[in-house]
Amino acid sequence: MTFQRVMVTGGAGFIGTAVVQQLLDRKVSVLSLDALTYAASPEAVDGDGLPAGYRLEAGDVRDPADVARVLTEFQPDGVIHLAAESHVDRSIDGPQSFLETNVSGTFVVLETVTSWWRELGGPAREHFRLVHVSTDEVFGSLGPDDPPFTAETPYRPRSPYSASKAAADHFARAWHETYGLPVIVTNCSNNFGPWQFPEKFIPVVSPGRSPGSRFRSTVRATRSGTGSMSTITQSGLIAALERGTPGLTYLFGGRNEWANRALAELICDMLDGIAPDKRGARRKLLESVTDRPGHDSRYAIDPSLAEQELGWQPRHAFTDALRDTVQWYVDHRTWVEDRLAKLGGYRRRGLGESA
Ligand SMILES: NC(=O)c1ccc[n+]([C@@H]2O[C@H](COP(=O)([O-])OP(=O)(O)OC[C@H]3O[C@@H](n4cnc5c(N)ncnc54)[C@H](O)[C@@H]3O)[C@@H](O)[C@H]2O)c1
Repeated sequence: MTFQRVMVTGGAGFIGTAVVQQLLDRKVSVLSLDALTYAASPEAVDGDGLPAGYRLEAGDVRDPADVARVLTEFQPDGVIHLAAESHVDRSIDGPQSFLETNVSGTFVVLETVTSWWRELGGPAREHFRLVHVSTDEVFGSLGPDDPPFTAETPYRPRSPYSASKAAADHFARAWHETYGLPVIVTNCSNNFGPWQFPEKFIPVVSPGRSPGSRFRSTVRATRSGTGSMSTITQSGLIAALERGTPGLTYLFGGRNEWANRALAELICDMLDGIAPDKRGARRKLLESVTDRPGHDSRYAIDPSLAEQELGWQPRHAFTDALRDTVQWYVDHRTWVEDRLAKLGGYRRRGLGESA
């Protein structure tokens, strides 16, 4: 199926901007509904001005009036729902906004889209799809010898973030089963790439924040498999929209597990190649820190269904994509510093003291 007009909630975020760009590259008209929180990077798409075919609307998924307004005005044939509070550590310090945006916001999106969708004419109603975007963290923590997550794996969320995403996933599936809304659920592992807010793992370990002289990392001491950290989930989301079966769940991951420590060391080595530090190898400067409460020790995904039904494959070799990403953060040090300065600088969150 082809889509002409896609509404993306959270379209100014890290994954959202990549999805928007891919849709625009395919000549699809796009409207982003985004509350433009601290995490938004609309500049990843707009550059020197909004591209043709793109509309960015400031609005809140918790507000039915905002969602109804853009649906009525834009008349999308597909919706990709990404808007969320997405940082686990922040969810430990302040879980309420996660409940409000990730659960209530998803409820509002489902309710409002359903009311609008029911009024569509037959063919438009048949054609419409909603892709709900979630995380592998809803499945909890794997033991070292456990098989990877599949769509049948029971939910066992362990952080306020993953609990809120799990609740949202259940609502999304319920709206398909109960009201017939053509919902496709996706769960993916960690993504990386340019424009990710510099509080997530790779932008923290990458150098933008500490230009060589104060290199530190918040490297968790225990193993945390990262599944596939991929820049290519966005192509999976579009494949799910175009070829996914409503009611089904697709998992995306690159069969490529890394422990946090090993990944941090690899980034250090890449960084040494890009910009050598006079003190020598950066991996020697890494410091381990305590795990956050509720830390998941391992994630891994079995993406077979997405590969078979959607024809999805990771597009980039992991180390090439990682090196490009590290280089991007080196080249965009000013962007990183500016973003952090607006929040009063970087500080480690999620130590479980204030929740
Ligand atoms: N980044 C990852 O590795 C990853 C992995 C698995 C799943 N996900 C999921 O993918 C989605 C996008 O993740 P991301 O990394 O791009 O997140 P992000 O934090 O970079 O972006 C989230 C976007 O949502 C917007 N937003 C927040 N609250 C909103 C509200 N109430 N109304 C409208 N917009 C709001 C923000 O302004 C921001 O632009 C999320 O649902 C997340 O749970 C992300």
